[in-house]
Amino acid sequence: MNKHIAIIGLGLIGGSLAKALREFDASLAIAAADTDQNALARALADGVIGRAGALAEICAQARIVVVAVPPLAGPAVLRQIAQCAGPETLVTDVASVKSHLLATLASLPAGFRSRFVPGHPLAGSEQSGFGAARADLFQGRNVVLAPLEETAPEAVARIHELWRGIGAQVLAMSPERHDRILALSSHLPHVLAFAMAGLLPRREGGAGVHHYAATGFADFTRLAASEPALWSDILRANADATVAALDAFGEDLKQFRDALAAEDWPALGGNLQRARRARAAFDLARGGKEAGNAGGELCFHVRPGGAIRPGRIRVPGDKSISHRAIMLGALAEGVSRVSGFLEGEDALHTLAAFRELGVTIVGPEDGCLRIYGAGANGFQAPRKPLWLGNSGTAMRLLAGVLAGQGFASELRGDESLSQRPMNRIVKPLADMGAVISADGGKPPLRIGGGRLRGIDYAMPVASAQVKSCLLLAGLFAEGVTSVREPGPCRDHTERMLRGFGVELDTGSRPGMMNLAGGQTLSACDIDIPGDISSAAFFLVAAAISPGASLTLEHVGVNPTRTGIIDILRQMGADIRLHNPRESGGEPVADIEVRQRPLHGVDIGAELVALAIDEFPVLLVAAACAEGETRISGAAELRVKESDRIEAMAEGLGILGIEHETFPDGIRVTGGELGGGVIDSRGDHRIAMAFAIAALRCRQAITIRNCANVATSFPGFAALARQMGLDISEADIDS
Ligand code: S3P
Repeated sequence: MNKHIAIIGLGLIGGSLAKALREFDASLAIAAADTDQNALARALADGVIGRAGALAEICAQARIVVVAVPPLAGPAVLRQIAQCAGPETLVTDVASVKSHLLATLASLPAGFRSRFVPGHPLAGSEQSGFGAARADLFQGRNVVLAPLEETAPEAVARIHELWRGIGAQVLAMSPERHDRILALSSHLPHVLAFAMAGLLPRREGGAGVHHYAATGFADFTRLAASEPALWSDILRANADATVAALDAFGEDLKQFRDALAAEDWPALGGNLQRARRARAAFDLARGGKEAGNAGGELCFHVRPGGAIRPGRIRVPGDKSISHRAIMLGALAEGVSRVSGFLEGEDALHTLAAFRELGVTIVGPEDGCLRIYGAGANGFQAPRKPLWLGNSGTAMRLLAGVLAGQGFASELRGDESLSQRPMNRIVKPLADMGAVISADGGKPPLRIGGGRLRGIDYAMPVASAQVKSCLLLAGLFAEGVTSVREPGPCRDHTERMLRGFGVELDTGSRPGMMNLAGGQTLSACDIDIPGDISSAAFFLVAAAISPGASLTLEHVGVNPTRTGIIDILRQMGADIRLHNPRESGGEPVADIEVRQRPLHGVDIGAELVALAIDEFPVLLVAAACAEGETRISGAAELRVKESDRIEAMAEGLGILGIEHETFPDGIRVTGGELGGGVIDSRGDHRIAMAFAIAALRCRQAITIRNCANVATSFPGFAALARQMGLDISEADIDS
């Protein structure tokens, strides 16, 4: 490997990078160029760089050139580098603005553009210059890569590796989004600090006025000690986005001002409370933990009298398919593009886990992702336990991927996930030769990594998570992995594996799959349809709301997921599928539903796996139906995000609905619904189901513990409100 690295600009960031690289690999040949001869002399004397020279001279020899100059100097430097760097040389930068480079890049040769990887370490301080440089500046910090469409995947991979090598976490997004976000997260706070620092002496001048300013003033204005020349440069480079950020801030600030001026104390208190929640979420995320329900408990209040308005809506992308798109895209060779990705917490945990495994993923941005596949053997050992929040799918499928890697890993989750059974995957994976353990059969999962061999496995329960886990592990196994399912369950993994070019033989018997290990996945594009499990809440809402007629557009109607439609139709609902089509290997349709009187039905085991996630809201339909509904063969409902049989029984009981539970099901008699306070037990689907029930309640319902709705259906309450529910969200301080 060519070990020559050239750094253009030895200020705080360039100098810290030189120091970090020197510590990481003493054999690197680091050269630098700077107009500040003192910085160069000091770096040479300290042994941080091996050589100082002119830009053209050091770039000609370098394998990687890092541009670490102030943003406005970037375009001219890039033009110079394009003229002197060799055809193989990769170029990256560290500027805190990205889109101002785009015009210059467009004027440079395509070959140069394909080797340029825009980058930005989210690290720094109010100090500047080589004197403030530190080798550990990037340790544990985020670095954003903003590759262009035409940036070569190999270039992205090399620059990712460079930052990871010195301890950083690599995120990725488009240059435009980077600049919008940085305007809000960094450029605006700097402007505010600069503006604030001068306000006190200007307005209340006089000797000693600073004696009256203490910690709050110091904390708030710390950024105003930053180098004005550099900040003038940054703000000019990102002027449009910073002006937009200032406008947004002005609007928010006005809410505080108006609440104070109008003595609207509840509004003031609400604003303060929301802000504190946001700040607590930031603290948790910064400490490596997930936001969850930071700083309080989220409740839904739903008043009676709501009704579903006629209309057409779209629900967010399918959660199951979103998880799989990340996983298979990461395992593939080449760049996969995904649209319709669910930006909910569960799928975002999967995304973050694969980033930690060394995969570059651009986005999500309006549901779009670009995944730079690492190939089957391209993952890096994770540096910390992988946090999967509330997501059983993420944990079980990821375990399959990780079992066949050459490194150890650990998978962790929240309180609910830590109670969910894992032996269903631990046992068959161990049979394949995996080194894997879970204390008492519960997370955390500890995976040793190693060599796998194919097995022939008959699943005791129809679980798509188990099936998918074993098929993914089978990709890394020697020989053939055969999985038999006792009954049909969702087949997204099989469909998507085929889309990525994997041969999967469905065998001679129904429900049998054979997969030969060692196959290569080739990148492909995936358009993810709306999630029928999220649509289910509005299907039932329209089915029970008098006079309702609603169309849900672009919903996945894979036959292994449409149990909800079959069951609601059996109950008398009027549901029609329009415009059936195929999208990304999955059947999709627009679903129209009109309210009709419902009646109770018997739901047997054969339908359970096909509607497994929809039972909470189906039980709401049952409570609004004439007569009795009985569900059996559904013991699996007891080991979901909560014991859904007990959670629903408890809530329906509070609403006055007669019911009886069994080990494998529940019987519900339809009737009048009252109101009251219901605990969702932190289960997203229980929370949303009871919000829908309020359409037929005589009194208001308060649903507690609703933060996890964000795992699968971000924006649920807003959409429900828009469609006619009288729903509001409130924080209760914990
Ligand atoms: C899922 C499968 C189902 C479902 C879960 C998502 C998946 O679980 O309940 O929400 O994406 O494979 P089981 O397959 O374990 O029943």
